[in-house]
Amino acid sequence: MFVGETMAKKKKAADEIKELEEFEELEIHDNPAEETPKKKKKEKTVATLEDLPGVGPATAEKLREAGYDSIEAIAVASPMELKEIAGISEGAALKIIQAAREAANIGTFMRADEYYERRKTVGKITTGSKSLDKLLGGGIETQAITEFFGEFGSGKSQTAHTLAVTVQLPPEEGGLNGSVIWIDTENTFRPERIKQIAENRGLDPDEVLKHIYVARAYNSNHQMLLIEKAEEIIKEKMESDKPVKLIIIDSLMAHFRAEYVGRGSLAERQQKLAKHLATIHRVANLYDVAVFVTNQVQAKPDAFFGDPTRPIGGHILAHSATVRIYLRKGKAGKRVARLIDAPHLPEGEAIFRITERGIED
Ligand SMILES: Nc1ncnc2c1ncn2[C@@H]1O[C@H](COP(=O)(O)OP(=O)(O)O)[C@@H](O)[C@H]1O
Ligand SMILES: [Mg+2]
Repeated sequence: MFVGETMAKKKKAADEIKELEEFEELEIHDNPAEETPKKKKKEKTVATLEDLPGVGPATAEKLREAGYDSIEAIAVASPMELKEIAGISEGAALKIIQAAREAANIGTFMRADEYYERRKTVGKITTGSKSLDKLLGGGIETQAITEFFGEFGSGKSQTAHTLAVTVQLPPEEGGLNGSVIWIDTENTFRPERIKQIAENRGLDPDEVLKHIYVARAYNSNHQMLLIEKAEEIIKEKMESDKPVKLIIIDSLMAHFRAEYVGRGSLAERQQKLAKHLATIHRVANLYDVAVFVTNQVQAKPDAFFGDPTRPIGGHILAHSATVRIYLRKGKAGKRVARLIDAPHLPEGEAIFRITERGIED
């Protein structure tokens, strides 16, 4: 096949052969009996895709083209995905993923005491309502995705606006001295409303606006790209006096719902959504950031029994969000929040109002 090939193709083929060789070398190392202590010590640090076992320039290029451009992205990929993208065996894909997971320090076991220590570092952001905070076990948590779902007008976006202000408060007032990244999918972000809430909570409204980074997502691909851009801002601001502590996606599902209609495309949508959520989880954990997402659902008046609150997005989202709150309109302009299957919190309800201070009791 080399006869008459262009130089570029030749080089690519050579790269691929080199990768295969690297792989074979690796297989041998896999046998512990043949591994000398000296070789064991020579563990190299994994910084780029090319540092992963069996990944040479050609494979790395294919992976990057498909959007797997970081160790973390590889770490949360599935072997089948990598197999198809890179044209490698599933076993090879698995090895790459395992190495990425070790390097990114995710998806591996952790001692429960260490896990407990990590849990203690979780930050909490007040929602502005004491009763809602109590329901949430103290507020919206970092290192987690909190999903508020409910019908149109139930208060999802108003909660988001309030959090974008309260996260900027000092810890003694329920904030985390944090900046905000806001991904707006339905053009519902209102700086005027932020200013109003900030003023009524004793903050300088212009300062508050300066610490909210807003982007409009035009479609689901763009939305996924924006999370990666968000990561750049997070890294940049990490050492500043106002690191990013909150990511808002209002609403998470709008584009996915609009773009993937009909039964046939459901699997594709869920796959893409799962990838999106994996990225969001990774960012939340890695940088100790709270993620607040909204999800609009239709009110189903006939569903008195069972779960009247099936969110669009289905099971993937339901299992991915760490805490889920169902919002509905109550009497006299009040809003009712109900906690749905949180792993570490008792079920219950909270009542709050939407006012000039955002949301409050
Ligand atoms: N400045 C405000 N003061 C009091 N209530 C407000 C204010 N702005 C919006 N609201 C109320 O918030 C409701 C809309 O809530 P919203 O969070 O946008 O719903 P959704 O769940 O669709 O995102 C409206 O019914 C309106 O009454
Ligand atoms: Mg809204």
